[in-house]
Amino acid sequence: MTQRLAGKVVLITGAAGGQGIAEAHLFAEHGAALVLTGLPDDPVGPLAEAITAKGGRAIALVQDVCDESQWQTVVEAARKTFGGLHVLVNNAGTISRESISDTTLPKWHRTMDVNLTGAMLGMRHTAPLMRESGGGSIINVSSIAGLGAHYDAAYCASKWGLRGLTKMAAIEFVEWNIRVNSIHPGQIIDTSFFRDGKPGHAESARRSIPMQRQGTPLECANLVLFLASDEAGFITGAEIAIDGGFSAGGAIWLRSKLRDQLAAEAD
Ligand SMILES: NC(=O)c1ccc[n+]([C@@H]2O[C@H](COP(=O)([O-])OP(=O)(O)OC[C@H]3O[C@@H](n4cnc5c(N)ncnc54)[C@H](O)[C@@H]3O)[C@@H](O)[C@H]2O)c1
Repeated sequence: MTQRLAGKVVLITGAAGGQGIAEAHLFAEHGAALVLTGLPDDPVGPLAEAITAKGGRAIALVQDVCDESQWQTVVEAARKTFGGLHVLVNNAGTISRESISDTTLPKWHRTMDVNLTGAMLGMRHTAPLMRESGGGSIINVSSIAGLGAHYDAAYCASKWGLRGLTKMAAIEFVEWNIRVNSIHPGQIIDTSFFRDGKPGHAESARRSIPMQRQGTPLECANLVLFLASDEAGFITGAEIAIDGGFSAGGAIWLRSKLRDQLAAEAD
């Protein structure tokens, strides 16, 4: 197998969640050395041990992405342990599923801090080391909530913000040979985002996707792998939906089904 990340050092935040785990295993198979970070209760230690046991290279660190001083510690650890940094996956994220009318200010601020400010701090603190390392790639994990409306006010605003910040960062860091892109997943199975939803959450999601199924963490990891690798060398400032066609035309697809249903009822 061609190792598409051989010689690269990759930092993944929120690494012990559904998508982070898939990325960590896939990137290790592709030769990356990994810096895996997560909140104090997130099992990033066992994840790093599992990768090391399979012959990979990985360290685990506790990190709240909202804390600027912890970013400095994490970047120093990457430099000390692996000698540099080439890829940042701003993957950590949180959701509270509250409308504008319902959201409390603490929840609003926490969501914005994790999803938007955390990613900004990540870019600010990793870019200088990536520059020293010869350049790199940043992948900001936004959402379909960053492409259209959503039912969580803070989540929607934070993911739209991240999409815009990605384009700004792509231009700011272009002279440092750092590419910056956003991905926009929708309805990915095996993540806490789905396990914790209301009854009917997952099923209604599935039924609104033109492909009629949810995506998998591995499918997301493969997209991030591509953007992280040199194969994506001319791609920067792009936004890529990974959602089974939902953002392209989920509404018109549902409307077509409704039209057929109404026509059948009229017969
Ligand atoms: N699952 C989906 O369908 C979906 C859809 C669109 C976007 N996303 C985005 O994908 C990313 C990955 O989420 P996932 O699907 O793997 O869900 P997940 O909940 O399984 O993983 C998210 C991880 O981020 C960690 N995290 C939360 N706050 C943090 C903080 N302050 N500092 C560090 N880590 C923190 C969590 O502990 C968790 O391990 C998130 O940014 C999420 O918004 C997910």
